[in-house]
Amino acid sequence: MPNIVVVGTQWGDEGKGKVVDVLTPHVNVVVRYAGGNNAGHTVVVGKEKYVLHSIPSGILHHGCRCVIGCGVVIDPGALIEEMETLVQRGISLDGNLFISKNAHLIMPYHPALDRASEAKLGSRRIGTTGKGVGPAYMDKAGRVGIRMADLLDERLFREKLEINVAQKNRLLREIYDAQTFTVDEILNHYLRYAGWLAPYITDTPLLLSRWIDSGYSVLFEGAQATMLDIDHGTYPYITSSSATAGGAATGTGVPPTRIHGVLGVAKAYTTRVGAGPFPTEMKGEAAEHIRARGNEYGATTGRPRRCGWFDAVVLRYAARINGLDTVALTKLDVLDQCEMVKICTGYRVRGEVITDFPVEESVLSEAEPVYEEVSGWGTPTSHVKNESDLPAKARQYVERLEELIGVPFCLISTGAVRDETIVCEDSPLLRWFPSVRASLL
Ligand code: IMP
Repeated sequence: MPNIVVVGTQWGDEGKGKVVDVLTPHVNVVVRYAGGNNAGHTVVVGKEKYVLHSIPSGILHHGCRCVIGCGVVIDPGALIEEMETLVQRGISLDGNLFISKNAHLIMPYHPALDRASEAKLGSRRIGTTGKGVGPAYMDKAGRVGIRMADLLDERLFREKLEINVAQKNRLLREIYDAQTFTVDEILNHYLRYAGWLAPYITDTPLLLSRWIDSGYSVLFEGAQATMLDIDHGTYPYITSSSATAGGAATGTGVPPTRIHGVLGVAKAYTTRVGAGPFPTEMKGEAAEHIRARGNEYGATTGRPRRCGWFDAVVLRYAARINGLDTVALTKLDVLDQCEMVKICTGYRVRGEVITDFPVEESVLSEAEPVYEEVSGWGTPTSHVKNESDLPAKARQYVERLEELIGVPFCLISTGAVRDETIVCEDSPLLRWFPSVRASLL
C-alpha cells in the first residue's frame, strides 16, 4: 500500500486540505509532519465548511486514523478548542486521533516572544501569524523545549517550565519591554490540558511502523509549503519548520525508504501572506479581482493574501527539492474571467535571464519576472469532469504549465467541493490509488 506525501509547492494556501480530503478515502492514516496552528486547512464537505489548524483533515472521514507527528509544534489550548469543535459537529476523535510524545509544546511565552520580536524587527519583520511557532522551534533546536511527553510528568514539566520561564521573562522584560509570565499560572492551565490530552499522546513512530507493517497506507499531510521551508524557502521570510517533502520522514519517524511518492499541490496562480520577495506579485485591480474570486484571505489570521501570476521558476524548484512525482493544480476556476493570463518562465536579474530559482535574498529581491501570455477562456470550468472537456484556452494554459514544470498533473481542481475535481489520465496518482476517479464520479 503506498505511502504518499502531499506538499505545498508555493508559499502555502495551495488547497492541500481539499487534495488530502479527496485522497483520504483511499488511505488508512493521515499524518501531519510539520508546522503548528499557523496552518489553516479549509475543507468543504457538502454544505459544511471546516477549518483545521493542527488536526489532519483526514479526521473528517469516518475510520481514518489521524496522527500529529513529532515535527509539529502544538498549542494545547488551541488544539483542545479544535477538538471540541469537531466533537460538537459529530466527529469522533477517540481511536482516531494520535499525538506524538515527541511533539514540542507551544507555551504562552512563545506567542508573546513572536509578537515582541516582530515589533522589534521593524521593516525586516516577517509578518508571522503570531502563533509562537518560530520561538517554539527555537526552543526545540536550542534543546530547552518542552514536549508532549513532559506534559504527562508533572515533576519534569515543572522543572523545565521553571527554567524556561526564568529565561523567557528576562528576555521579555529586558530586551522587549513586554509582559512576563508566572510558573504557577502556566502550570495550572497546562496540567488541565494534560488531563484532556493524555489519552491521545502516544509513541506515534512505533504506531506508524506497526501500521505500515500490517499493510496500511499513509498520507503525509504537509503544512505551509516549499517556499516557506526553513532550509529551502525564501529565508528569512519563511516559517520555522521543514515543510518540504524531506520533513515527512523526520517529522513522523517514518523512514524515507518507506515513503513511495510525492504529490505537489500548486495553485493556478500564486499567493503569499506576510512579507518577503514575491517576483510575480500583481498590483491594483488584477490582484483585487483574483483575491475576491479566490477568496484569498488567510484561514488563520484573516489577512488579505498577496496575489500574483503563476511562477514556473518556483514550481520547477519545488519539483526538484521535493522530488515531485505529480502535481495537483488547484483553483483553475478563479482564472475563468481573466481576459489574459500570464505565466512567469524566468527571472531577469542584472540583465540576464535565469530559469533556476536563485536562493540568495539579494538576487531574488532584484528578480524581474519574464512572462508568457495566454489569452483567457471566459467560460466557467467548475462543472468540467474531463481534462479534454476544458475550454481550449484553459487546456492550453494547463498543458503549458505542465510542460514548463516537467511533471505530470494528476488532479485539476475547479471548485471548493470534492466533486469539482478533474482526474487526469496517465498520472502516478492512478497507479497509487486506482479508484480515485470512480470515487469522484
Ligand atoms: P509563522 O509560521 O507564523 O512564523 O510565519 C512565518 C511566515 O509563514 C509568514 O509569512 C506567514 O504568513 C507564513 N505562514 C505560516 N503559516 C502559513 C500558512 O499556513 N499559509 C500561508 N502562509 C503561512
